[in-house]
Amino acid sequence: MVRSPEKSDKFSFGLWTVGWTGTDPFGVATRPALEPWAYAEKLAELGAWGVTFHDNDVYPFGSSELEKARIVARFQEAVANAGLVIEMVTTNTFSHPVFKDGGLTSNDRGVRRFGLRKVLRAVDLAADLGAETFVMWGGREGAEYDGSKDLYSAFERYKEGLDTVAGYIKAQGYELRIALEPKPNEPRGDIFLPTVGHALALIAELDNGDIVGLNPEVGHEQMANLNYTHQLAQALWSGKLFHIDLNGQRGLKYDQDLVFGHGDLLSAFFTVDLLENGFAGRPDAPRYTGPRHFDYKPSRTEHMEGVWESAKACMQTYLLLAEKARAFRADPRVTEAMEYAGVLTLQEPTLDAGESLADFLATDDDFDVDKAAERDFGFVKLNQLAIEHLVG
Ligand code: GCO
Ligand code: MN
Ligand code: MN
Repeated sequence: MVRSPEKSDKFSFGLWTVGWTGTDPFGVATRPALEPWAYAEKLAELGAWGVTFHDNDVYPFGSSELEKARIVARFQEAVANAGLVIEMVTTNTFSHPVFKDGGLTSNDRGVRRFGLRKVLRAVDLAADLGAETFVMWGGREGAEYDGSKDLYSAFERYKEGLDTVAGYIKAQGYELRIALEPKPNEPRGDIFLPTVGHALALIAELDNGDIVGLNPEVGHEQMANLNYTHQLAQALWSGKLFHIDLNGQRGLKYDQDLVFGHGDLLSAFFTVDLLENGFAGRPDAPRYTGPRHFDYKPSRTEHMEGVWESAKACMQTYLLLAEKARAFRADPRVTEAMEYAGVLTLQEPTLDAGESLADFLATDDDFDVDKAAERDFGFVKLNQLAIEHLVG
């Protein structure tokens, strides 16, 4: 048994997660849609700390300003009464047919102007509600056919859109950071910014990139056959890990959005190990201290009971893995195996402080190539210790 979730765990859920009614390309809803505040109240009861949402998870697309204000006020009150925080807000620029070719990169300039305005209004809302992060997932920014886009201009328009939003946040003096969410495909055949690395490269080209970072999702990196923990590590190393989307994915399939840990469990273990314990031997390195945000879909086979069970499962799995990851790091056999493996010596710079390249090239350190080639690293033993903690 593991303890119950507490506020200090910073678990948060998107309204669209527990709120997914099961509609997919092959079938209609399998469960009812509740009011947005009903989800928030139940999540609070289960031990969540925060909620997040797309503008249209709370008020319908096309709502009048009056209608929007009325619904948002009711939602905000319910969230406050439930003791939850709204840590992230995002915009839906993918559901309505107008966005079929994207919001910021549609070939249709009118759509781009409409999309950008919708994003900016959601930024105002995010700031109003005290959110710290504004996620931008460009699910419709992409193409099915390579000839359908001037790809050069698509990146220009993406940059223009992101710089405009980031510039607006600064000009308004909002305490908000943008987190880009990469995904390789689905719903578009190919989505721009398919991986963390692609997003980092685009951020480096922005004028206002200092407040733009990442919101990597487990399944999205795994859909591209990449290692989620490595992506988190690079984002941390770049000072760009602003937010995370935790869920589960089993290999190269459609975006499964399973409960956290219900996909690649060993990968989830090392993800939690990084989040909870940081880089091995590097107390000086950056740590992720933000929300543990779940972006998953309760399977379509479940009714409401199963929806709440799945939300509990996300938090319980995280807590179980956190306990095991702590025990793993505290195990003297693990310290010994890490030392044997050289894990703790990678942090030593390869060159001496102040060493000139001329000096470096003039010496050979009496390096014994044959001896080094015979070194045993013991990585398998170290990994088996992780398995022992995970399933032992
Ligand atoms: C997905 C994505 C989306 C986004 C969300 C935030 O499963 O493809 O995770 O759920 O995270 O829409 O904008
Ligand atoms: Mn997803
Ligand atoms: Mn997501």
